[in-house]
Order: sequence, then structure tokens, then C-alpha cells
Amino acid sequence: MSEGAAKKEEKPRKFQAIRGTRDLLPPETALWNRVEQTAHEVFSNFGFGEIRPPIFEATELFARSVGSETDIVSKEMYTFVDRSEKLEPQPVIGSMDVFLQRVKQLYKSGEIPQDEIGLELVEKQWRKVDDLLKGASNIESGAIEIYELIMLFEALRLGGDVSLRPEATASVCRAYIEHNMQQLPQPVKLYYMGPMFRRERPQKGRYRQFYQIGAEVLGGSDAPAIDAEVIEMVMMFFDRLELQGVRLDLNSIGCRECRPKYVELLRAELLKVKDKLGPDSQRRIETNPLRVLDSKLESEQGIIATLPRIADHLCEDCAAHYAAVKHQLEMRGVIYRENWRLVRGLDYYMRTTFEITAQGLGSQNAVCGGGRYDGLVELLGGPPTKGIGFAIGEDRLILSLQESGKAPAQQGRDVYIAWMGERAHATAIRAAKDLRKAGFSVELPPVEQKFGKALGQADKLGAKHALILGDNEVSEGLWTLKTLADGSQLKLPEPALIEHLRKSKAVSS
Ligand code: HAM
Repeated sequence: MSEGAAKKEEKPRKFQAIRGTRDLLPPETALWNRVEQTAHEVFSNFGFGEIRPPIFEATELFARSVGSETDIVSKEMYTFVDRSEKLEPQPVIGSMDVFLQRVKQLYKSGEIPQDEIGLELVEKQWRKVDDLLKGASNIESGAIEIYELIMLFEALRLGGDVSLRPEATASVCRAYIEHNMQQLPQPVKLYYMGPMFRRERPQKGRYRQFYQIGAEVLGGSDAPAIDAEVIEMVMMFFDRLELQGVRLDLNSIGCRECRPKYVELLRAELLKVKDKLGPDSQRRIETNPLRVLDSKLESEQGIIATLPRIADHLCEDCAAHYAAVKHQLEMRGVIYRENWRLVRGLDYYMRTTFEITAQGLGSQNAVCGGGRYDGLVELLGGPPTKGIGFAIGEDRLILSLQESGKAPAQQGRDVYIAWMGERAHATAIRAAKDLRKAGFSVELPPVEQKFGKALGQADKLGAKHALILGDNEVSEGLWTLKTLADGSQLKLPEPALIEHLRKSKAVSS
């Protein structure tokens, strides 16, 4: 059977967007655009430039940055092998040189990932193979070693382990290093917006493909004024959007010096009350005691309230930094609430951490999370670099704006062109072009309609005006403009009509 015939016999099948993903549709997308446009404006007022990193990266980048034990990396990433084909030709004793040349070529071009396995097999073993091949006049003398190497090379895959990004801070740090941004004037201030992917249980405000708008400040000093300005910027952005019920929670989680000591103290205290805790918290006493503070379990709240607080156990430098951040926020008129239980679920944080909640979001009410991550760039092979940033959950931001009625009404067309007759069609095409050039939104029906039907259509589309073009209008050079809200009609020549529309748009906006 030909391919075409087979296709015809296939039963039609309907598809739905994959669980946890969704289509964003008009008119809602107009609100998304407004939010994003406001972000571009506010962030550039603070001197930030936009970065657009790729949507997938080496899995190891996220494992190292976010932390391999975190929920995000251990359970929620969409990970796959980029290409899993075997190398061709296969290694065979006797024609190893052909195979090895191919390996070397592919490694250089990056098709064999330059990750740990690739490094081990190609860079470290290469010399050995070379020596063996050069030294052994009789290749069989090194046969066993070569055989072992063949086994190793057979494990080589083309392409590497990659993951859809669950967040973008790691990518921004990778880009900072890759493009030698430490040579630019410091700090480097970058922002981004786009989809992120986490395989979480979907619910209101929680999706598997969701959108973040984030910003990062990299390099320069760790002056508390930087922390405060970053927070001031996100608060100004929310203010510009008139987001309701905004609350900023602030904490400091210390540094490599003081946090481990606090964590040990916390663990010791938690062990004393272990039997009163639920299974999740009991497990976390071992894996990550700080996460117990995150618990929403009603029965644990009383116990958590009695636990030691990190603010009382910060080292001198961290305590001074935290106090200065608070002072800086006060100087900027930013209202915050200290929340000693705010720990955040990513490993790279130190010192300042913050979260912002907003109205109308139910249990998933964090609309923004962020903090300081000095040392992350270094962990990714870059120079010692300070860093701080945040990410806003755009889906949640939109939900909250919609719930509080801040969503803009659907933008209807400015003009619907109701035309009848061949001559009028040509004039209508020209009129549509001129009006669109002049910045009006115009609907030009593709086929002729009776005027009554056309006006009904204009109404359904929420058009403000109908431009009526029939034989009379074309021969007189006077066009009829009907205002749909009150039914009033005007006859105007084209230039005066554009001027009239301009004025009426200025009045209504
Ligand atoms: P995060 O707290 O994991 O931080 O995410 C930031 C925000 O993204 C959350 O507050 C929430 O609004 C939104 N979000 C997270 N997961 C989902 C989801 N499944 N569905 C809908 N919205 C979600 C970070 O991602 C850090 N990279 C933030 C950062 C930047 N820290 C420093 N720089």
C-alpha cells in the first residue's frame, strides 16, 4: 500500500494540549503583552538589558546550580538524551584508526558531548590509544587494552543529557561566563522572560509549562543597596500594573560560615520532637532540615514556632548585611515583612531571600521569589562573582490581575469596512491600507455582504465605527462613517475622515 493510501485509512484523532500545558488565547494574550511591555519599560528604567537564553541546556548545569537533591532537579525536570545514535563506523580491531579519527572529529565539533564521560573517554584515554597505536607495530600486542577501550568507546553517545529549563538563573550565570561578561562594566544587569518547565502536579496557578519574568544582577559588589534596588524594581513593576494585595516577605539565610551551624542546631532541635512531626518533615530532618520550616501542615505549626530562628544565628557579616538591606528598603519606602521561615527551595541561595505574594491566588500565592547567590558563577567554573535576582511567575501574576478586575477589556476594531460592489471593493482595499498605516485596527471583509449583515458583524466584533462604501460614496468621493455606539453618521472625504477618527480615538483612550 502506498504511503498516501495508508494515510487516508488512518482514523482521525483529536489532540489536546498535554497535561499541565495550555494555549494562551486572545483576548487574554493582550494582558500578557501589556504585562511584558511594562516589564521591558520598568526594567530598562533600572538599566537592565534583555537576555534570551536557550530553552534547553545540559542537565548538569541545573543539577549543579539548583541542586541535585532539590525537588526541581530530582523529580521535576524534563530530561532527555539529545541524540542517542551509536557512533558509526563501529570500532573494530584492525581498523581502529578510522574509528578513532571519527571520534576525534565528533568530539571537536561538540557532537560527542564535552561532558564528564566524553572528557574521560576522549581526552584522557586518547593519549593512551594514540600511544598504543603508534607503539604497537603489531596491533595485536595491545589487543586486550584496545578491546577494553572499544568497550569504553561503545558507551559513547552522540549528544548529551539535556533538560528543558526549570528556571533561568543557571542559564544566565552560564551565559555570563561563556561570554566573558566579567570584562564588562560591573555589575551586569540582565532580565528575561519566557517559558520554564517543571513536572509538578498541575492545579490553579501551577503548570508544567509556565512563564517567568526574571532579572539578575551579576558581578560588582554585594552592597545591600543592590539587594534593595532589585526588590524596589519588582515592587515598582507590580505597582505599575496595579497588582492588588502585594506582600513582600524577607529573610536572610546566612552564608557558608553560619548556615551549616544553624542547620545542625535546627536538626538537633527537630530530632527532639521527631515523633510529633509528619513523615515528610521526619525525612527532611536528615535530608534538608530547613525545608521543615516550609511545612504547611496544621499539626506542625505549633512545634515550628518554637524552633530556633536563623536571624539569631547569623554571623557578624551576614547580620550586618541583613540589617543594611532592611535599612535600604526603608530608605526606598518599600514595605516588607520579616519571615524567618522563608527558606526557598533552590540550593544556590545565601543571605537575602524574598518572596512576594498577591491576592486571589489560593494556595499557590507566591508570585515572585528571589535572593542572593554569591558563589554560583564560581561553582559553574567562572570567576568569584556576586549575584542576586528574582523570578516572577507570570501565569500567577496574570491570574491575580484578572481576579481583581485589572484585566484590560478586549480591544475591538476601530473600523469595520462595509463595502458593496466591485468599485467599492477596490476603494475599500485602499482605505484599509491607509487606515492601517495611520495606526487604526481595521477589519476588511473578504467577500461582499449586504450592509445590514456587515453592520451586525461589525457590532459582534466590537468595532467602534463602520466605514460604509457603496457606489454613491465612491463616485462622490465622500465616505460614510457610522459610529456604532450611537448610530450617528457623517459623510467625509478621506483625509478628513482619518483626522476625525484620530480625534475620536484620542478622546476615548
Ligand atoms: P522559584 O521560586 O522556583 O524561583 O520560581 C519563581 C516563581 O515562579 C514562583 O514564585 C512562582 O510564581 C513561579 N512558578 C514556579 N513554579 C511554577 C509552576 N509550576 N507554575 C506556575 N508558576 C510557577 C526561581 O525560579 C529562581 N530562579 C528565582 C531567582 C532568580 N532567584 C534568583 N534569581
